[in-house]
Amino acid sequence: MSIITKTKPPSSETKDPGKPLVRDSFTSKLGVIFATLGSAVGLGNIWKFPSMTGANGGAAFIIIYLLCTLLVSVPVMITELMLGRTARANAITTYRNLSPKKSQPWWLVGVSGVVAAFLILAFYTVVAGWVFAYIGKAITGNVLSTNPEVTSQVFSRLVTSPWESLIWQWIVLIWISFVIILGVSKGIEGLTKRLMPALFVILLIVCVRSLTLPGAMEGVRFLFKPDFSRITPGVILMAMGLAFFKLSVGMGTMTAYGSYYRDDQDIPGSALRVMLADLSVSILAGLAIFPAVFAFGFKPDAGPSLLFITIPAVFASMPFGQFFLILFCILASIAATGAMLSLFEVPVSFLAERTKLNRTGATIVTFLALAAVGATAALSNSILADVKVAGKTFFDLYDFISSNLLMPIGGFFLAIFAGWVWKFPKIQEQLSNHGVLKNRGIIRIYYFIVRYVAPALILLVMLNGLGIVNW
Ligand code: PHE
Repeated sequence: MSIITKTKPPSSETKDPGKPLVRDSFTSKLGVIFATLGSAVGLGNIWKFPSMTGANGGAAFIIIYLLCTLLVSVPVMITELMLGRTARANAITTYRNLSPKKSQPWWLVGVSGVVAAFLILAFYTVVAGWVFAYIGKAITGNVLSTNPEVTSQVFSRLVTSPWESLIWQWIVLIWISFVIILGVSKGIEGLTKRLMPALFVILLIVCVRSLTLPGAMEGVRFLFKPDFSRITPGVILMAMGLAFFKLSVGMGTMTAYGSYYRDDQDIPGSALRVMLADLSVSILAGLAIFPAVFAFGFKPDAGPSLLFITIPAVFASMPFGQFFLILFCILASIAATGAMLSLFEVPVSFLAERTKLNRTGATIVTFLALAAVGATAALSNSILADVKVAGKTFFDLYDFISSNLLMPIGGFFLAIFAGWVWKFPKIQEQLSNHGVLKNRGIIRIYYFIVRYVAPALILLVMLNGLGIVNW
């Protein structure tokens, strides 16, 4: 297995001799962080984290979420980045090449990742489409009403119109495909390193506005007041699903990104930085939303209705509300863009490296497949509203299968692979950048968690949350 120790692109792995020998990769250390953070920060921070926290015990939920992050998703993230960088290949090839025995089907972890990325994109592009549409609606003032019934009608007109939903999804897909075709350094890194700082600035502006409204403290209390009685096995599974979804781990995104990491990048350090920055965005998003929601006496709804019905009405109630609503929609679009780029990269890198297609061809094929499968999610509120599988619309089904099943299962096998198949010496070699970094302590902690704690926790939480065992 010579491939394991190689850190240069295994050009022999590309089937087509006409393909370039050097893979595109991220160029600067900061660019690496921004691209990775771009993947982690997404609609999850705005649409999932604050409402899940508010509804499931506030600070108590945040503590559980933090534990899941530190004990499960950060170690899985480090694993993925490390394996991706070692193999310098797409997710499926990475696990196939790094597996010590060819008879062991570790490549299936990569396959599960490609499927998960695809399913997430199928519903994520629908929500992103609504967000993009709302920039227009905020600019024209169409959605600006202090009456939630009016904003609710605007939203329901959008989601129940089959064509509008589909067209916005296609616009999103075209935008992402365009950046992906530009490439890893020029497209993904070039864009995220400009957008991420802008996102922070916008978020801070909206936060200050929200927190300085009279009555804002009640929203702060809603977000942080600990209520441990809400914490059930189902809620813990939800927190873990969120920890996977938020840090984009367990499904090949970070493997693909790791394959573009610099040889001198400090992987554990980068993962921790990304985690902290992502958590800050989530908490700031909560502080941008709930104080304003409570200040104007609205109900702290969950999920899409919070984002698309309550928020416009809340912003419409404040001075210069239109300006802040436009800013907020731009913020959400930026967040969604970075996340979708990383999801797209998973199937595209696989197709570009393992088939005759070049990057442009691979992007077009992914685009077409997503336009087809994604349509079932886009039409979940209109033509296909009554079509349910396991009691769920296609939209909800894709969300459930990816974050509650495929990502934790992928994470479990990744942890087993690192802790029991790859083992300490190789991990030490890779995570210290061949002895250059003096981070043995961190590596030891990581190794212990990835070998014992993470797999045990994932298994327990999954079996409990799915109702298979009860503790
Ligand atoms: N982390 C992104 C978010 O929070 C979603 C995502 C999941 C992106 C999986 C890539 C892979 O919105």
